[in-house]
Amino acid sequence: MSVTTAKLASMKAAGEQIVMVTAYDFPSARAAEKAGVDMVLVGDSGANVVLGYDTTAEVSMDEMLTMAAAARRGTKTAFLVCDVPFGSTEVSDEQAVETAVRFVKEAGADAVKLEGGNPRRLSRIRAIVDAGIPVVAHVGLTPQTAVALGGMRAQGRTAETASRFVREMFAVQEAGAFCVVVEAVPADVVQLVLEHMQIPVIGIGAGAAHGQVLVQHDLLGITEGPMASFVKSYARLNEAFAEGIGAYADEVRSGVFPAGEHCYKSKPEALEAARA
Ligand code: KIV
Ligand code: NA
Repeated sequence: MSVTTAKLASMKAAGEQIVMVTAYDFPSARAAEKAGVDMVLVGDSGANVVLGYDTTAEVSMDEMLTMAAAARRGTKTAFLVCDVPFGSTEVSDEQAVETAVRFVKEAGADAVKLEGGNPRRLSRIRAIVDAGIPVVAHVGLTPQTAVALGGMRAQGRTAETASRFVREMFAVQEAGAFCVVVEAVPADVVQLVLEHMQIPVIGIGAGAAHGQVLVQHDLLGITEGPMASFVKSYARLNEAFAEGIGAYADEVRSGVFPAGEHCYKSKPEALEAARA
């Protein structure tokens, strides 16, 4: 049975951990689905880990829609959340609704995720929820506007950012978000608000919460280079990829591949005709 917002709310109420992971295409979504995760997130982290951009702010609407539609085709029962790219909701509530509608209609999203909890962002959340599309909020470190936060750094460590974090948590819930992702906030600060939240809180670099999310390509070791301290590695797929392709390259160069079983067999008359 498909995961719904009601199911996620009841999991939170029952104290069952909600598992979320990102996916950006058909195989990564299918892997998440096979693993039985509750929520699949088409994160704009795909900008970095799949498309090779330096920041998430660079990914386009069309690129996000392509990734989202592919992930939808690989996601049967998990709840599919899509990040709206930077620039696609900033202008007005109307623009935000149009963007959210495109993710539902063109990609089959179950919900959209919006970064930020200032008054303008709250207005966007309300508008999209009013249009009948479930919204996941995202507070704490918000990569799309990280430059304005002073870089990719933890939030809620200073008095100012801690009180903003608490204020925004309650505000996004009040605005109608059915779930909130908290990124890079000290665990003890998160704990203070957790018991007062009616909606599920999904953490990433935020300690224990009602659930967790990680970037699939980080946890599988597809991503290379320095990673945030909150990432745990569960596999080393980039090594497996390079080993597999290396073995193929060796066999091509040495003539081991292709072998007889990789070749089509001709019919005698075809061979004769080809010779003539
Ligand atoms: O884009 C993403 O992958 C995200 C998660 C890290 C929450 O927003
Ligand atoms: Na994101």
